Amino acid sequence: DKGGYRHFMAKEIAEQSSVLAAAVKFYLSGREGQTMLENDLDFTNIDRVVMVACGTASLACFTAKYWFEQIAGVPVEIDIASEFRYREPPISDRTLAIFVSQSGETADTLAALRYCAGKAGKIVSVVNVAESSIARESDVVLPILAGPEIGVASTKAFTCQLVVLAAMALQAARQRKVLPAEALSKLEDQLLQMPGLMADVMTCEGQVKAISQQLARFKDAIFLGRGAMYPLALEGALKLKEISYIHAEGYASGELKHGPIALIDDDMPVVVIAPHDEMFDKTVSNMQEVMARGGKIVMLSDAKGLAEAGGETWQQIEVPQIEGPFAPIAYAVPIQLLAYHTAVEKGTDVDQPRNLAKSVTVE
Ligand code: F6R
Repeated sequence: DKGGYRHFMAKEIAEQSSVLAAAVKFYLSGREGQTMLENDLDFTNIDRVVMVACGTASLACFTAKYWFEQIAGVPVEIDIASEFRYREPPISDRTLAIFVSQSGETADTLAALRYCAGKAGKIVSVVNVAESSIARESDVVLPILAGPEIGVASTKAFTCQLVVLAAMALQAARQRKVLPAEALSKLEDQLLQMPGLMADVMTCEGQVKAISQQLARFKDAIFLGRGAMYPLALEGALKLKEISYIHAEGYASGELKHGPIALIDDDMPVVVIAPHDEMFDKTVSNMQEVMARGGKIVMLSDAKGLAEAGGETWQQIEVPQIEGPFAPIAYAVPIQLLAYHTAVEKGTDVDQPRNLAKSVTVE
């Protein structure tokens, strides 16, 4: 049931606010006492976390790497499952291994899990399908509570994965006592506010739709982001290519000048994820490098950011001001909407893009 929407993807984007509310409540409700994560996970007896997944799920892991390292001081290795499993990486019993998969059936992710079984201290899976193969073979199963995701392009599963991983990073910080209590509770509040913000962010849909009508004319696009917005830039490019078939690449903003800038001309839209945060000035200078070469900037930011630097950009998308490290969760919405409306404009099969399957059980 598409619930009145034209596509499952549109419905699944729109329902993220309510779906996330349930996930946030489930993982943070025990604030005063024991959370469910506290019973199942011990971050005090590990040296590092290894996170493995494929596609969009691997980009959730990449985003969470920033959180685990910055918030909890835990070293994190991330990898895509198809490389990890054949690389023979050394895994000790002081490694917590996390496998993230919407379907819980992705063959490479399952094989990576089996590689770690018996080596890692604990095998944790973050899945949407609780009775899946990956869940069955894990020591701890953390459901993302997204409900069925029908659209082949992952949307609400991605943001719910982020919520669970964010709650885990907070749990790690709490157990390892790396943050003062006030700092920790501020971060918890920021995560608790995320579902409400997801609804507020949807107000950018009109702007995004208008820009998508322009974007649909181009053959290529670049997405740029810094810090935890870098994985989101990769996700934006992945989403755009898989449903609109526009060739898109994501780069770390600071990496542009090391090669990709050669691609910039007036046929190259560049989506810059630029919240007004501590890295804003750096991102703006990368944006100016693009504009100086005729690149067409789509600037995604808040009112402050757009007022400071939106003036000469080609297009602007405004979202509310979102404080703290979990901002990529809310910024995922305009990124998803941009891919969605561009695909609709091009008339592609949004829910069933060519050559793709919802569950990839071949290696
Ligand atoms: C992209 C997408 C895929 C999946 C990937 C992993 O929109 O949906 O990249 O994220 O195939 O699938 P799961 O999460 O089921 O392991």
